[in-house]
Amino acid sequence: MKMRIDKFISSQIPSVSRSQVKKLLGQKRISVNGSIVTAADTRIEESDEVALDGERIIYKKHIYIMLNKPAGYVCSAHEGNSPVVTELVPEGLRRGGLFPAGRLDKDTEGFVLMTDDGELAHNMLAPSRHVPKTYFVRLEKPYEERYAEIFRSGIALGEEKCRPAQITPDSKDRYACTLVIHEGKFHQIKRMFEALDNRVVYLKRLAIGSLVLDASLAPGECLEIMHKDVEKLLCHQAPKW
Ligand code: URA
Repeated sequence: MKMRIDKFISSQIPSVSRSQVKKLLGQKRISVNGSIVTAADTRIEESDEVALDGERIIYKKHIYIMLNKPAGYVCSAHEGNSPVVTELVPEGLRRGGLFPAGRLDKDTEGFVLMTDDGELAHNMLAPSRHVPKTYFVRLEKPYEERYAEIFRSGIALGEEKCRPAQITPDSKDRYACTLVIHEGKFHQIKRMFEALDNRVVYLKRLAIGSLVLDASLAPGECLEIMHKDVEKLLCHQAPKW
């Protein structure tokens, strides 16, 4: 794949616009395979070593970011009246086309994948792919044993029937449980418990596929997901809790 150097640099370093790349080229700060280049229409290959001020710019086709979403943020790429999750991505990780793959409610916390890879997002979210999403749930009323079988056989939400979901009561807190669902209907978990005459008072997504939210991430913090971990987002096996 050949690409113009100005496009390459501005796509990999979002804080540098294409016109700023022209300035950097003019200042002889950009090299390809060790030789300074000055023309914005220089064409490069993915395998070429491009450097800015001697520091290599590693080409990444897509970016994958694990965000620990705090309550109060909306999962949308665009500004509305409420703060949006894209605002939480630090400058160095921002790119054009970055969006949250899947939605958590405004008051839900936890793992949101931010990416510019539409194909991965589609595969992760398509109900036919059955990718498990694991949540920690705190309830208004104590957990009841009957929930496990009702969720396992697929609870009905009005006309719709949910896919089988796996619930594990918390060993210490009788109001808490972990729930694994394999689809993402509107307010699904809240509606599942409402159908059982209970209510969700706190919800946090702990994992997508087999990839677990990093415990060191404070609410509002992000971490770039490394290549070897990206495929865990599509894994059919939820982690054990
Ligand atoms: N289910 C819900 O009800 N809300 C979420 O944010 C995610 C799953």
